[in-house]
Amino acid sequence: MKIFTTIDEIRAWSNEHKRGGKTVGFVPTMGYLHRGHVSLIEASVEENNYTIVSIFVNPTQFGPNEDLDKYPRDITKDTETTKNAGVDVLFVPLVNEIYPKDYSTFVNVEEISDYLCGSTRLNHFKGVATVVTKLFNICNPTKAYFGQKDYQQAVVIQRMVRDLNMDLTVVVCPIVREADGLAMSSRNVYLSHEERAQSLSINISLKMASKLVDLGERNTVNLIEKVTSILEESDLISVEYVEVVDVKSLHRVDKIESRAVLAIAVKIGSTRLIDNIILEV
Ligand code: PAJ
Repeated sequence: MKIFTTIDEIRAWSNEHKRGGKTVGFVPTMGYLHRGHVSLIEASVEENNYTIVSIFVNPTQFGPNEDLDKYPRDITKDTETTKNAGVDVLFVPLVNEIYPKDYSTFVNVEEISDYLCGSTRLNHFKGVATVVTKLFNICNPTKAYFGQKDYQQAVVIQRMVRDLNMDLTVVVCPIVREADGLAMSSRNVYLSHEERAQSLSINISLKMASKLVDLGERNTVNLIEKVTSILEESDLISVEYVEVVDVKSLHRVDKIESRAVLAIAVKIGSTRLIDNIILEV
């Protein structure tokens, strides 16, 4: 596995392989890799001749009071993980390689960036869309892989790729969970023993909602109420939002017609966790 830190190196490598008619899969990450990330890497390795993984903790997607400085990092372990998963190139740029001193261009996917997580994380998706655009331009992939875990992020990226006619395919992969149901996240490492135990109610509430839909519930107000009440039974959890939205537009829906996504954001202590489930009739 090659490790590149400069744009020139990775761009030359990718373009050489693409000119030779090969496909290049790309998995952008912020590192501290877990099985969720590995599932995206495996999909890319399976579907492409070559796979690039980037590790870059992107400062522009963190708010002033968020966890940029303490975001977990372990480049030694991540190098092992990517090597074992069959990655061809690991791209690990420094911040000033991506954002030189007078950097001034941003990509904003309007409206859908303001819903759900966007309502509390101002400019978060502008930072995500900007860095992902840059990484796409740098790595020039055939396909790029994202997780359903960050549902809104996947929708924002798909919209951006369509709107800006970017020449690649976005693949969205299922949520990978711990054995007890907690969605894997680099941020789970922040949870204390007690917080980790209470975090289980996130998945329990999502599964309960799905079961209620199976039993005939269509009214989203009732579903949201039920989910919220399960979450609020845990004293360490504070609910940021529980919403049922259209799978593409992310507009709120009152009634589940065919498919909708139930999305949750909570704080457990000072750790912010998100999760979601597709509700299907
Ligand atoms: P990060 O949180 O490291 O996640 C990288 C990718 O892994 C994202 O597409 C995310 O949805 C996916 N992922 C995370 N947990 C997952 C899980 N439990 N199951 C399946 N996929 C999972 O998302 C980011 O980084 C950044 O915003 C990024 C896109 C790299 C831009 O900076």
